[in-house]
Amino acid sequence: MTPIDKLKMEPFGVNFDLETGEMLNPKNHLVRRASDMKGHYKSEASLNELIQNQNNPLHYEVFEVPVPEKSGQLMYCISKLQPGLVGDECFMTKGHYHTVPETAEIYLCLRGEGFMMMKTSDGECRLEKMTRGRMVYVPPFWAHRSINTGSEALISFCVYPGNAGHNYGDIEKEGFPERVFLRNGKVVIEKR
Ligand code: F6R
Ligand code: ZN
Repeated sequence: MTPIDKLKMEPFGVNFDLETGEMLNPKNHLVRRASDMKGHYKSEASLNELIQNQNNPLHYEVFEVPVPEKSGQLMYCISKLQPGLVGDECFMTKGHYHTVPETAEIYLCLRGEGFMMMKTSDGECRLEKMTRGRMVYVPPFWAHRSINTGSEALISFCVYPGNAGHNYGDIEKEGFPERVFLRNGKVVIEKR
């Protein structure tokens, strides 16, 4: 098989409801609950409280109709992050570098309000506002996590190279340099 044959496939289409931000008929559905988020929030006690007393609530979901994980392909998905607080820290995704670090990603926000937090391995940190109709470009080498500061789900359409992969381990070790809280209805950003 030549390299071209390996990438050959039939064109296809996928339907979205742009009002709700839903991908209709996804093939894969990844679910993360509060218990999947151990070690990511400032207050582990508040996270445990949520797991035990609030029935381990849904945190975020990823919906996709996957394509082969190969250079030349474009992977895409819907990421849906629930609103909520762990103590006073806003719900967020785990965050990751791409396994192939020189791969970028585009997030188009369809609903909700929040931030994309991005960091380099040198500790540089940036926050980009996410709101309906805003695209955030995550350049190569930047780890990224979404943070929901609003009262409804934060929903984005993401596109990234098929061979990018996800490296969660380095972020679990390093963490992100900043945290986002909601205090008295105000967004507060703090350095760790
Ligand atoms: C893919 C990507 C998103 C996230 C999703 C869940 O490269 O960045 O689709 O995978 O928002 O977040 P994580 O992967 O951090 O659990
Ligand atoms: Zn990514």
